Amino acid sequence: MILYNRNRRLRASQAVRDLVKETVLTTDDFIMPIFIAEGENVKEEISSMPGIFRRSLDLTVKEVKELWSLGVKAINIYVKISENLKDNTGKEAWNKNGLMQNSIRAIKDAIPEMVIMPDVALDPYSIYGHDGIVEDGKIVNDVTVDALVKMSLSHAEAGADFIAPSDMMDGRVAAIREALEENGFHEVGIMSYAAKYASSYYGPFRDALNSAPGFGDKKTYQMDYANSKEAINEALRDIEEGADIIMVKPGLPYLDIVSKLSQIVDVPISVFQVSGEYAMIKAAAKNGWLDNDKIIIESLTCIKRAGASLISTYFAKEAAKLLNR
Ligand code: PBG
Repeated sequence: MILYNRNRRLRASQAVRDLVKETVLTTDDFIMPIFIAEGENVKEEISSMPGIFRRSLDLTVKEVKELWSLGVKAINIYVKISENLKDNTGKEAWNKNGLMQNSIRAIKDAIPEMVIMPDVALDPYSIYGHDGIVEDGKIVNDVTVDALVKMSLSHAEAGADFIAPSDMMDGRVAAIREALEENGFHEVGIMSYAAKYASSYYGPFRDALNSAPGFGDKKTYQMDYANSKEAINEALRDIEEGADIIMVKPGLPYLDIVSKLSQIVDVPISVFQVSGEYAMIKAAAKNGWLDNDKIIIESLTCIKRAGASLISTYFAKEAAKLLNR
């Protein structure tokens, strides 16, 4: 046969494959989500997320030091607070000496260069497990935005580098940006969860924080997974409102959204490979059905190939170890 195109030439050896490789995954891409619990010397594994723990602050600081030494440069922080601190206003969320604020300060103190991106949403503080304030069975937007602004300022005061609103209320990015500017936090950025879908993949996360919605679901604020145009609208609005980074969440099943957005927007796109995605991969790997290490690197590389500049992933630590090998 005379073939003018033999595509296999570019796959002939590892060296050639490396030369033509388009996407290279590095630890620079990772954000590690961490769960913090009250108390001391606490380390509890999340049953639906083998290998992922809720740690008290003392152990968290050690863990974050290790992450930094492995080359992981950013963390998302989520806290599990005791039930008696929860109410419908979420006011514990902006307590200057709350678990989140103390954690941000302690981590900043111990590892100043680590980029800290604490989660902004009321669900871990809400008796209803909703991301906003509830009135007559509805999650009310504007009152919630006021609460999120207070929460964001308290994170900035404690030393957060990026405010990361995951609540999906309308207008919150603009409100947070204005408050940050008015209070002199010009250098604090916003990574907005712009296209966040109402997803069953969040199940294990809600186990970790005991934050499952007490009634109904999150479909009046998080997006319908049947839609993609809405994601573009959400992202463009958030950018207009002052978001520095926009996020798409979940990850793997939503890479079409990432790909579309990366052709449209000029800000970095962050992708959250969420708790349920972690749980699925771990479950299959534990059964010997998938190769743990290879699947981790493949899934993260595919997320990057789709257009992600940053990846929030529970595999950050494990993947960093694999990449450092
Ligand atoms: C809270 C929040 C959630 C996640 C991140 N921030 C859960 C939710 O919206 O119900 C999910 C993360 C994950 O599943 O890993 N607003």
